[in-house]
Order: sequence, then C-alpha cells, then structure tokens
Amino acid sequence: MLTPVLASLTADIAATAALPLTSAHTLPQAAYTNEAFFKLEEEKLFRAGWLCVAHISELPNPGDYLALELLGEPLAITRAEDGAIHTLSRVCPHRAMDILPGSTGFPRKGHAPNLLCPYHFWSFEMDGRLRGCPHMQEAKDFTKAEWPLTAVRSDVWNGFVFVNFDGAAMELAKCYRDLDAIVAPWNFAQMSIAITMDWDCPFNWKVMVENWMESYHHIGAHSTTLNRIMPGQNTWIEPEHPHYVHAHLPYTAKLQAEVEEAAARGEAMPGFLPISGLSGGQSKEWGLFTGYPFFMFLTMPDRLLWYRLLPISAERCKLQTITLVSPETMASPELAKMIEEESVLLRDFHLEDMEVNEAVQTGLRSRYAVRGRLSHLEEPVWLIQRYLAARLAGAYPEKASRKPYYGLRTV
Ligand code: FES
Ligand SMILES: [Fe+2]
Repeated sequence: MLTPVLASLTADIAATAALPLTSAHTLPQAAYTNEAFFKLEEEKLFRAGWLCVAHISELPNPGDYLALELLGEPLAITRAEDGAIHTLSRVCPHRAMDILPGSTGFPRKGHAPNLLCPYHFWSFEMDGRLRGCPHMQEAKDFTKAEWPLTAVRSDVWNGFVFVNFDGAAMELAKCYRDLDAIVAPWNFAQMSIAITMDWDCPFNWKVMVENWMESYHHIGAHSTTLNRIMPGQNTWIEPEHPHYVHAHLPYTAKLQAEVEEAAARGEAMPGFLPISGLSGGQSKEWGLFTGYPFFMFLTMPDRLLWYRLLPISAERCKLQTITLVSPETMASPELAKMIEEESVLLRDFHLEDMEVNEAVQTGLRSRYAVRGRLSHLEEPVWLIQRYLAARLAGAYPEKASRKPYYGLRTV
C-alpha cells in the first residue's frame, strides 16, 4: 500500500508518461529527490529487473572476484574453478560480517583461492559453498552444506554480468534478444577494459540516464566537443522496446565523407583500431543504448563505452565510465599512446555532462523548479518516462505509436 505522497507521485508520473511526445513535459521534481520514491524504484525497477554489475574481462581466471555494493547489498562476483560466474552476497552466514570489508563505494578486484571471512576464518569456495569452519565440531546438527554464502540470481549477456535480486525477472537473453545482431560486430565478450574512470555523482540516477540518452544537449553542454561531430538534430531513435532504448547519433555529412575517404585509402580514423564487420551506418555513427533501468552503453566504430552506475540514494550515485577495446587494439604496440590520447577526450566530454547533471539536481531541489516542456529531440526522455510508469504499475512499456515520429534528419 503506497503512502498518499507516493500514490499521488505515481499517478502524476503515469499521467505524464501517457502524454504524446508533442505534449511531453518533465516529471515532478520529487521523482528525483524523494527518498521514499527512490525506495519504491528500488523495489519495482531495480530489484525486479536486471542490473549490470561487471564485464567478464574483469574476472578472467578461476579465483578472480569483484566486490561491489549495489542497493546497499555487499556483493562478490566470482569466477569458480569450473569457469562459471557467480554473484554472491558477502554477508557471512556465521555472524553476518561482510567477508570483504573496506568498501569505498567503487568496485574492487581481487584474486584468492577461496573467500575467507576475516572474523572467525570461515572459508568459502568461489561458488559460495562453505569450505572450512574451525571449531564447529560441537555444534549439534551442523552440516557445512547448509551454510553457503547466499547466491543472487545472475546471468551473462554478451560478456556482461547482470544480477536480478528478486529472482523473477524475464530471462536476460530474451530481454536483449533483439540487440544481439545489432551489437554482434563488436563481440563484447572478447573485448577488454582499456580505461576506467571513477565518478562520485551528486544526482539522481534518472538525471544520469536521461542525459546519457538525449542528444539535444550537444548544442549546449557539448557545443565545442561532441556537437561538432554529432549535432543533436541528426539523432534518431529506434521504435520503443520494452527492455531498452536505442538512439543513433550519425556523424556530420563532412565527417561521414572523411570516414569514407579514409576507408577508400585503406586508412583508419584516429582513435583505437576499428571494429571489423560494421555496417555502413555503424561506421559513421555512435550507437547509444540504455537497457532498463540503467545499463548504459555506447557503440563506437573503434570501441565500446560502458557506464557502470551504482545508485546509492535519491540524490547520489557512484559511476564508472569504462572504455572497452578489441583484442587487436589490446595487442597494438600503440596501445599506451592511444589510451593517453583517448582518456583526454573521454574525460573532457564526461566532465561536461557531470557539470550539467550536478546543476540539474541543484535545480530539481529548488522550490522554483517547474515542469519543463520537451523537444522532439528528447524522445528518449519520454521513452524513459514510459518505462518508469509501466514498471511502477508492474508492466512493461508497450510499443508506442510511431506518431509522431521524427525519424532521421540530415544536417
Ligand atoms: S562472521 Fe564470518 S566467520 Fe564469523
Ligand atoms: Fe552528454
């Protein structure tokens, strides 16, 4: 049973999301600031959905683990002896200690023959089974097999590890099946992490995801960077999907011509080594995706960008911006130089986003915040609203009418 405040907020969101895109406006500010509403999102969106926690290249060998905190839960993502990936609660089944203490809020990597609780030295296999427990021989009816670390439902899609806390989400492979062919050339599972940057984000998770998905802001926030190569008015959006939103960010005509000329000369564009097997369109655009609720990734002709978001409260998240590259790039003698150059670009445009996201949260906290109108270029913001409203009602967004559909433009 919802409190009156949450009931009215939820009704407002449902009414807002039901508007056609031409009449769309922003959500009530409480959707970005209210802690009780954040808890409701945790239950209806996060715990009931698939949350991306790791890339398998972070756990290449048996015994590798990644410790992270998600929705207040200390978790360990592990690779067991047989190569299988597991997601385990780090809460010791003895006296509840976090078996990998020392959280900084950002994921921590490690390698060990087993997981050892520092309190009384109970030890666990990488699949969670209790392996050793000193001085427990007098405990009546105590059977080691009955005291594993708790497993959280977990699955892998194209090299990305996901968790589903409530254990009831639709199969991960089904949710993202329609993306498989689109992302196939990148071969995500074979990629490796080249650059990771940590960010403390004093803003709501939807501020991040909305900013990630709409390119209208290229005109302002990225006026001297991204807007020069991908103006927002060229952006177009794929039809609504129940599990993700997919936007295309084509290069300017000038840059597209440069890509074609370089290809004709057999040369690569600046950056990492190009991904092979891309379609003509994919080699001249960025593909922007959010798997609901917050699996954010960006396919580029030479790399994959992945944003690992860890929401903490209504107004705070931890974020890692992660660049993955192909095996060919990892083997290149130029790798260190490429990383140095590309890190500058990545930091610069993400700093531009950090600045606007922090300032938007400041505005959303103000008593003068209003319900703004949306441009047609903010179609992804409207689609995210429709996802939010549907999940709050226990459903998935239906494929929206394509009217009005703005489609591909050329500038
Ligand atoms: S709390 Fe972990 S061994 Fe005692
Ligand atoms: Fe941006």
